[in-house]
Amino acid sequence: MRDYSEVIKTIVALCEGETDTISKMATISCELFHTMEGFDWVGFYRVVEPELLKVGPYQGGHGCLVIPFDNGVCGACAKTQKTQIVPDVHAFPGHIACSSSTQSEIVLPVYQDGKLIAVLDVDSDKPNDFDENDKVALEEILKQNF
Ligand code: SME
Repeated sequence: MRDYSEVIKTIVALCEGETDTISKMATISCELFHTMEGFDWVGFYRVVEPELLKVGPYQGGHGCLVIPFDNGVCGACAKTQKTQIVPDVHAFPGHIACSSSTQSEIVLPVYQDGKLIAVLDVDSDKPNDFDENDKVALEEILKQNF
C-alpha cells in the first residue's frame, strides 16, 4: 500500500494560495511522478469542449493530445464522472495505448466549483498496480487543490 502522507503535505505547501489551475496541475503531476513508486506517467486531460479532452500538464513519455469522451479510460472517466481503476489495460475495450509499457492505470475526475474540468490519469508499467487506497488518496489531493 502506497503512503501518500508526504506527497500530500508537499503538494499542499506548494499549491497554497495558488489560484491558477494549470500551475496546480503542473505541480501535482511533477510531485506525483517524481515521488510515487510505479507512477510511470502522470498527467491531466482537460475538458476543452463538450465531450472532448485535450492533454494538459503531464510528466512521462508523450501522451496523445486529444481524447473524445467516447474513447479510452480517460474518456470513460469523463463520461461517467467516476474514478476508473483498470488492472489490465489490454482487457479494457478502447484503451488508448500512448506507451506500450503501460499495464494498469487509474483515472479520476477533477472538479472545480462542482463542474468537471479535467481527469487525472496515472499509468503504471506493472499490472494491477492501483487500488482503493490510491483512489481515496488521489481523490483527496484533487479535492484539496481544485
Ligand atoms: N491511457 C489513456 C490514454 C492516455 S495515455 O495513457 C497518456 C486512456 O486510454 O484513456
